[in-house]
Parts: sequence; C-alpha cells; structure tokens
Amino acid sequence: MKVAIDGPAGAGKSTVARQIASRFGLTYVDTGAMYRALALACIRRGVGADDVERVASVVEEAVVDLDGGTDGPPRVLLNGEDVTEAIRTPEVTRLASPLSALPVVRRALVARQRAIAQGRDVVMEGRDIASVVLPDADVKVYLTASPSVRAARRCRDLEAAGYQTDPVTVEREIVERDRRDSTRQDSPLVQTPDAVEIVSDDLTVEQVVDAIARLIEQRLKDRA
Ligand code: DC
Repeated sequence: MKVAIDGPAGAGKSTVARQIASRFGLTYVDTGAMYRALALACIRRGVGADDVERVASVVEEAVVDLDGGTDGPPRVLLNGEDVTEAIRTPEVTRLASPLSALPVVRRALVARQRAIAQGRDVVMEGRDIASVVLPDADVKVYLTASPSVRAARRCRDLEAAGYQTDPVTVEREIVERDRRDSTRQDSPLVQTPDAVEIVSDDLTVEQVVDAIARLIEQRLKDRA
C-alpha cells in the first residue's frame, strides 16, 4: 500500500500522515524534512540557493536519513546527526523553498525517496509525491486549506516551539512559499487529476484522517 499526500504548507499533512501511518502500519515519510535537512547543511556551510555549484557539492556529501522510531515524531538524520528540531527554524524554512526548486537537489532526494518506498508500505507526504515520486501510488490525496487557516495553524506550531509570531507576516510568507513551490519549473506543487482533494478548513484532524482511511480501506477491498 502506497499513500501519497501532497499539498501546500500548513495544510496539516504531517499530523494526518503520521496518524494514517500508525493506523495502517505504514512507514511515514516526510519528504519536506529531507529538503529541510539539505537546507540546514547549506546554511552551516554558508551556501545560498543561488550558488548551484556549491549546493551540488553539499548534496553530494550530505546523507539524509529518516528514522521511523517508535516514540514521538520520526527523527531526521543529517550525516548521522539528529537534526529533527534544528530543521524547524524559520531560517531553514526560508531556504528550503528556493533550494527545493533546484533540479540537482530534487534529483538526489527523489531517488532517495523512491528507494525508501521500494518494497515497503508507505504514507509519503510532500509536494510532488503523486506527480513524480510515486505516480503509481494506490491512494492519492491533495490536502489543502485557505491561506489564513494555514497561517493560523503555523502560528500555533511556532508559538508552541517558543517563537514569537505575527499572523500577517506568517500568512504572507506562506502565500509566497506556495507561489514559489507551485510555479517552479521542476516538479511544481500540483493536484494530479487522480488525486482526491480534501479542504481541511472546517474539518478536524480526526475527520481528515477518517476520510483518508476510508479511501485506503476501499482500495484494500478493491484489491481483495
Ligand atoms: O513541507 P515542508 O514545509 O516541510 O517543506 C519544506 C520545503 O520543501 C517546501 O518549501 C517545499 C519543499 N518540498 C518540495 O519541494 N517537495 C516535496 N516533496 C516536499 C517539500
């Protein structure tokens, strides 16, 4: 069983994907975390997204791993170092988007993501899972919400992590990131025609999880 969940920033993909993973015993793969880990590696080397050659050498040297773990969120490893918390800073968030537009970055991470999914049951979330990484996924979901709802959720997350937030700025940054992620040349954020759209504005996490669970159960029944 391969489940693809795509959508813009702050739509609730991670929360929902994690619950789906535990309900159906799937491996949870947060592909955004992989782009973030490379962004952190670039920041540490002082490399910006405009220096493609140096980005390419960071990509070559950086080994990004996801460790499923059993307690709490899956850990993200950069050359063996646990960077799970370090990749959630606003600085990393800002660099991950322009970095993820570079073909040299996408090629490496898409190959890694396909290798992780090979021969495994997964729920993978990102921007290009249904369109590029797992075009043959059994269930494809496009999870979205209005920018103001997504900004409010992001503010809550940031505040919980100890950051001061301003909803107007957070919403502006979200809209800008959406624009960049969906207009880039290489595998932009798109809703594929075979994906089921879920708009989560007025839905609880449980309702979204249940809707996706029904799609998975239907698929399992069709196969039996
Ligand atoms: O989902 P996120 O905010 O953790 O993702 C961080 C950045 O990585 C985001 O700006 C878009 C990019 N990304 C991508 O281009 N393709 C993916 N499959 C996942 C994330």
